[in-house]
Amino acid sequence: MKKQWWHDKTAYQIYPKSFLDTNGDGIGDLPGIISRLDYLKDLGVDIVWLSPIYVSPLADQGYDIADYYGIDPRFGTMEDMDRLLTEARKRNMYIVMDLVVNHCSDEHFWFRQACKDPDGKYGRFFYIETVKDGKLPCNWRSYFGGPVWEKLPGHEDKYYLHVFHKKQPDLNWENPELRTEIYKMINWWLDKGLAGFRIDAIINIKKALPFCDYPADRDDGLCDITNMLRDAKGVGQFLGEMRDMTFSPHQAFTVGEVFNEKKEELPDFIGENGYFSTMFDFSGTLFGRSMGGWYEDLEITPDDYRDCVFRAQKKVGNIGFLSNIIENHDEPRGVSRYIPRGEACPQSKKMLASLYFFLRGLPWIYQGQEIGMENVPLHSIEEVDDISSLDNYQVALRAGASPEEALKAVERFGRDNARTPFQWSAEDNAGFTFGKPWLRVNPNFKEINLKAQENDPDSVFSFYKKLSALRRDPLYKETLVWGDLIPYMEKVHNVMAYFRKSEDQTILVIANFQKEERDLPLPGKVEKVLLTNCTEPLINGGMISLAGYQAAVLLMEDQNLQAAE
Ligand code: GLC
Ligand code: CA
Repeated sequence: MKKQWWHDKTAYQIYPKSFLDTNGDGIGDLPGIISRLDYLKDLGVDIVWLSPIYVSPLADQGYDIADYYGIDPRFGTMEDMDRLLTEARKRNMYIVMDLVVNHCSDEHFWFRQACKDPDGKYGRFFYIETVKDGKLPCNWRSYFGGPVWEKLPGHEDKYYLHVFHKKQPDLNWENPELRTEIYKMINWWLDKGLAGFRIDAIINIKKALPFCDYPADRDDGLCDITNMLRDAKGVGQFLGEMRDMTFSPHQAFTVGEVFNEKKEELPDFIGENGYFSTMFDFSGTLFGRSMGGWYEDLEITPDDYRDCVFRAQKKVGNIGFLSNIIENHDEPRGVSRYIPRGEACPQSKKMLASLYFFLRGLPWIYQGQEIGMENVPLHSIEEVDDISSLDNYQVALRAGASPEEALKAVERFGRDNARTPFQWSAEDNAGFTFGKPWLRVNPNFKEINLKAQENDPDSVFSFYKKLSALRRDPLYKETLVWGDLIPYMEKVHNVMAYFRKSEDQTILVIANFQKEERDLPLPGKVEKVLLTNCTEPLINGGMISLAGYQAAVLLMEDQNLQAAE
């Protein structure tokens, strides 16, 4: 596999609205991000993805774009953006923006024109259908609930398609004129010096046409959108064209938000000259999802987590390079999801961090993850902002859940968990703003905040610094970045362990994923303990003693290692 400049980097996701507010309006902003570049550099971050900061009514927190060429004044100005690019370049850092092109906002100029003239140039930028006798063109359920069809403002018999919120009309990628507009915009940003994009919801750009119904899977008479994704053929044509017209000529870095891909499609997506540089591994995220919504979703155990991750690793092998995460702005906090309930503590958080960070692929840190931020407790649905959580709450109630049970589901899986303000310090509003934060601060900020961890060598934060330093250490980089991944003790309950193997080096990452201590067999002699999250483990007679939630990264002596069952 060809080495790429970004393979040995560490990436970081910023959710700008909740990162740092500098003018007291309660909303994080670009000057806040610029002022923390040194902080990120110190953490070991090279690539920074910003969730959307374009002009937007923020119906879906910026994933509803009203002007692709403008910065929303709540986040700052284009001058701020240019300054961010310059300051990042000075520090050898790379800025990546969110590319949201499955849909735009209903407040975008294109959609406004489409409403005026549905048969005109801009009408053809969207999917607009004439409805007879009130029968919608198809029964697909939008990701945020309800039918994907909404009445076109100003027209009694016309409807437009939105697979997400009704304020996010889908763009018609079948129309070459639309595609040309999108490519022009992408190139405009890349010409400005942007390193690349995280590509939002991209699988949805291909629709199964003509529109048709699928069997209903809830009593709303609608069907899950994955039915149509399965039948939509040919997304690769659009993706290949986009790559050739934009990313390739700029050598841009791209990371796709890809769900539902098939194994045989992997080389097309992230192989050499793939549509994208890399794509996120969502296998842990997707575990336990049900047709019934969050209320019926299963919790994930340590064994499930390990199995998901290893399955994804084996599937990709060395076809390409995955992007590894434990959380993002759409998910609960990783430490609240993957560590058994009630057992998230600095020790277990560091263990989880070691496990995902050294997987083959690009490690991503989501803002606040590096200080061990956790899910936020909920007392009432009134506290919730996220549209997806509000929908899932109603779905649970309709399925017969009590309000308490419905709230519990939102508390466990809701997107606000990751969106509460970054906890910088124990001061008012966790040091995020001197105004009123747009979303409440997690009440645990007095205990969990950067200030308390910054100078503590044993903190979660300091541990993350060690992780990124070890992965880039010239002595181990060849193995930790490019080496093969081979699971070890794959079937043993509450153990997660794997080798990273290059031609002349083997490193074993091993973790005791439970609170009870235990002894585990080693596959050979240990040359050196490269990293651990508590006191050095006792290694004796081919065994290693691990404390509860202890992880260790071990440089092994022999090359002929046994893969224990
Ligand atoms: C992606 C984003 C999510 C957004 C959706 C619609 O899944 O990550 O936040 O709501 O796309 O743009
Ligand atoms: Ca602000």
